[in-house]
Amino acid sequence: MLENYKILTITHKNTNLNKLGKYVIDDVSKEKLEALKAEFGLDELLYLSTCNRVLYFFVASTTYNVAFQKAFFQYINPQLSNGSLSCLPEIVEYFDGREALNHLFEVAASMNSLVVGEREILRQLREAYDQCQKWGLTGDRIRLAMKVSVETAKEVYANTRIGEKPVSVVSLAIQKLLASKTAKDARVLLVGAGQTNKLVSKFLHKHGFSNVAVFNRTLAKAESLATLVGGEAYPLEDLNTYKQGFDCMIVCTGATRAMVDIPLYEQLLNGETEEKLLIDLAIPNNIDAQVIEYFNVNYIEIEDLRQLASENLSFREKEVGHGQKIIDKKLEEFEILFEERKIELAMKEVPVEIKKVKAHAMNNVFKKELEGLDTNTLDLLNRMMSYMEKRCISIPMQAAKKGIKKL
Ligand SMILES: NC(=O)c1ccc[n+]([C@@H]2O[C@H](COP(=O)([O-])OP(=O)(O)OC[C@H]3O[C@@H](n4cnc5c(N)ncnc54)[C@H](OP(=O)(O)O)[C@@H]3O)[C@@H](O)[C@H]2O)c1
Repeated sequence: MLENYKILTITHKNTNLNKLGKYVIDDVSKEKLEALKAEFGLDELLYLSTCNRVLYFFVASTTYNVAFQKAFFQYINPQLSNGSLSCLPEIVEYFDGREALNHLFEVAASMNSLVVGEREILRQLREAYDQCQKWGLTGDRIRLAMKVSVETAKEVYANTRIGEKPVSVVSLAIQKLLASKTAKDARVLLVGAGQTNKLVSKFLHKHGFSNVAVFNRTLAKAESLATLVGGEAYPLEDLNTYKQGFDCMIVCTGATRAMVDIPLYEQLLNGETEEKLLIDLAIPNNIDAQVIEYFNVNYIEIEDLRQLASENLSFREKEVGHGQKIIDKKLEEFEILFEERKIELAMKEVPVEIKKVKAHAMNNVFKKELEGLDTNTLDLLNRMMSYMEKRCISIPMQAAKKGIKKL
């Protein structure tokens, strides 16, 4: 029954991402999930954990209530403190039946994500399913729900603009760099080697920039980024003596003061006067405002990029409405598919039973009469019986399917 589909989930919508981490299963394993299944009488189970959600999709006839919720999380996360258990009613969302499927489809289509339209979630969901299926935790009903989830997500991505327009500051910065027509062999200075500049390096590498000098307080991190992009690594203090000039400088550190000031900038210019591309991704900015004012620069700063990113995200969020129309249609289709599948399963025995009736008729009930028939008549009778057998199998199946579609 459709109502046996259930979801228990904690997402970024109801808690912050640090707290969410507490509800992720520690060292998830087949044994842990099997034990959870047995403890709560679940027929099938799929577990998904990403950086913005923990989700249990299961099939069960058990009644859900607050006591179930607490027992469930206490069982699977035994390390949870009383405080983390007592806030469960505020942060856990529960869905069943059509609502559960609607939620699953929304998750797959990235309509429920922190960053709407990021397709990564579909890969994560598929991987979670593959793993749980391999562990023998899922069955026919989750298989069917997953099949339609993937179809729905693909339809949403293909027929809405939900994934269009970049929403990450780094990808927007790189778009600006590419739009500035900076040559691929341009001299790029990368100042800072944290997470943000690591992503910058990946993009630089992807777009063919390799004349890159990476400066960082911790040299080892500069080296790791330089390897990524095929450039050179330097300790941060070497900026003060760097004499090779540059065309583009991308700065992003956790320093809370402007580290590129007029004297340092003049020194880095090394006498060059052409316009330089400056990208400052740090908050607060790492390039002194006076540098922008006094020198010949094309300046891209994070505040503009953040504004653009949030406009793009609002655009994507507007597309959620179009995605929901697709989901509604797919939910209708799913209900038909689910009923058909139920009939298919129920009818699995029909061919075997009909064959048995046929064998019984020929070998017992009409045995004597058949013995008196000549070969031609017997052959004709056999063919008629086989024809009837096939029809007897297909007619009830077709009638049942027609009945479902009329409902
Ligand atoms: N994460 C994002 O999505 C994102 C997006 C846009 C902008 N930002 C901004 O980017 C900046 C860095 O973020 P992140 O995520 O890359 O940080 P992160 O991974 O923590 O890296 C920080 C980087 O800054 C360096 N650093 C920290 N304090 C410094 C100081 N006082 N002097 C010199 N270098 C210092 C660190 O050097 P060591 O390696 O030596 O520690 C490291 O390279 C922040 O201003 C942040 O607000 C972040």
